[in-house]
Amino acid sequence: MQREHSTDRRALMRQAACVAGAWAASNALPVVAAGEVQHHPRSLLVDEHGAPWGARRLETGQAFLFNYPYTASPVFVFAFEREIKPVELVTESKQRYATPAGVGPNRSIVAFSAICAHKLMYPTAAISFIGLRRGGAGEPAQVIHCCGDNSRYDPLQGARVIGGPAPQPLAAVLLEWDAARDQLHAVGTRGGEMFDAFFDKYAQKLELETGSSLRKPVGATAIVQPAARYSKQWRSCKV
Ligand code: FES
Repeated sequence: MQREHSTDRRALMRQAACVAGAWAASNALPVVAAGEVQHHPRSLLVDEHGAPWGARRLETGQAFLFNYPYTASPVFVFAFEREIKPVELVTESKQRYATPAGVGPNRSIVAFSAICAHKLMYPTAAISFIGLRRGGAGEPAQVIHCCGDNSRYDPLQGARVIGGPAPQPLAAVLLEWDAARDQLHAVGTRGGEMFDAFFDKYAQKLELETGSSLRKPVGATAIVQPAARYSKQWRSCKV
């Protein structure tokens, strides 16, 4: 397992070096915090019984969710049909970063914060207005679509914004995959985290929903659920 983690870290460093090189060749925007990872405590993805949620349990093209790095902050995790390569994106505060490459047996598993970068809509136990939906004309086959104001994100390209008012991509959640054990860990984020604004905006609502408005780290394990189980109702968006 240690060797796999070292390999993952080396791969992350290579991605950051490649992207930094590309940015050095272009001075369109200032290079800030290139490829930097926002570290959070490492959490093993598990099912409701505590058994590790292996990469192979993620059905292709289906949305699954877990909470990370806090008990109240939701994250989408997807397995797609093809390998996901890193791309260069920019946050609202003009920080460039490299999105994580896909992990897992096909290098096709990626995870993103499920807090919309526009006005912070997020999936709750009762209902979700942001989810994975079929893409429209000229869009990828699947998009992450927030019904709030129709922001749309491309999950194959680091959740970059492809439509609507969102000012930045969804923050990427970094995953590591232990191939020998088929275990997935969440280890941090890249891009524009919105946790400060999220906990400020929803303090009262979170108190009602979860019994606490405070940020509680999710801990050593994070429970993965299919979207249909995470939220009772998934709203389709009218565009
Ligand atoms: S809150 Fe998601 S688009 Fe406005």
